[in-house]
Amino acid sequence: MTAPADGGADADVRLRRMPKVELHCHLEGCVRPGTFLELARAHGVPLPTTDPERVYAYTDMASFLAVFERLAAAVVTRDDVRRISYEALVDAARGSAVVYREMFVNPTLHPTLPYDELLAGITEGVHEARRDTGIVTRLIPSVYRAHSPAAAADMVRAVARGDRDLVVGIGMDGDETAGPPASFTEAYALARDAGLQVTAHAGERFGAEEVRTCLDLLGCTRIDHGYGLLQDAELLARVRDTGTHVTCAWLSTTYNYRGPADTHPIRLLHDAGVRISLGSDDPALGGTDLAGDYRAVSARLGLTADDLARQNHAALDAAWLPAEEKAAVRARLEDAGG
Ligand code: ADE
Ligand code: ZN
Repeated sequence: MTAPADGGADADVRLRRMPKVELHCHLEGCVRPGTFLELARAHGVPLPTTDPERVYAYTDMASFLAVFERLAAAVVTRDDVRRISYEALVDAARGSAVVYREMFVNPTLHPTLPYDELLAGITEGVHEARRDTGIVTRLIPSVYRAHSPAAAADMVRAVARGDRDLVVGIGMDGDETAGPPASFTEAYALARDAGLQVTAHAGERFGAEEVRTCLDLLGCTRIDHGYGLLQDAELLARVRDTGTHVTCAWLSTTYNYRGPADTHPIRLLHDAGVRISLGSDDPALGGTDLAGDYRAVSARLGLTADDLARQNHAALDAAWLPAEEKAAVRARLEDAGG
């Protein structure tokens, strides 16, 4: 590993303390291993090991998603959801100075918990975390690609009918090889018609075509991961020129990308002038946090603290937050000199 671009321990402290805007993080990917073990025991979810150091072990995208699904299966009651939401947010605020987070949740991975109960549990955790740390949060219920288009459409109907105080849009995640984005056209149309914002994970494993589908057919105004853009110069230029925000995540590149640092997809999107920002994605599964990811892209890819501070402003520009609340978050970035 090379030294951080800005050099040394002071730079690490600056990266950790820098107020952060995070647009790409999954609630279920934030569950502390100890909490998961407790919930799995309480709900009879079979465990491969009871060692908190190894319970989230995976080697590739498929085994990663299997861990993610097992984790979600242990989150069953409204109070489980309240607890994991609270823990996720205080960990981000205290450990990484996250001041604003938009967080994905997969309602269809909690099939026995009605959507309104799920949302009520998250809302309680969000308010408790705000009270204790000041972190501001919005939610993005997410379509799980291994589940059916009909389940996705039903999910969106529940989201559209439900409370919208915290819910700002819908997303899509899960296995890129499971369901093509075009099969979720109905779900996305329902969401847009209900006035929800829309984004999608696309191009995480480097395909450009599905990014195009998410933009053109699903109407996405942001893209999550988006590395496949690098395969298509015209699409890349379009995303750059329209200022479409791409939420990158260091974590999944650690097992999906094997090349050198100077052609790392996050470095290349940054160099191409695309508006990007970093999200921790699934910090508990990475055994790290957003501040650790800032350190990794600084040390490994040479992004500077100033680059990352600018990315926080770009993320806030792209955030789905009303103007007044946005201004308050912006003041927190500026007060800290970030
Ligand atoms: N769900 C949680 N993390 C994910 C990732 N990195 N890719 C796709 N789906 C996910
Ligand atoms: Zn993600």
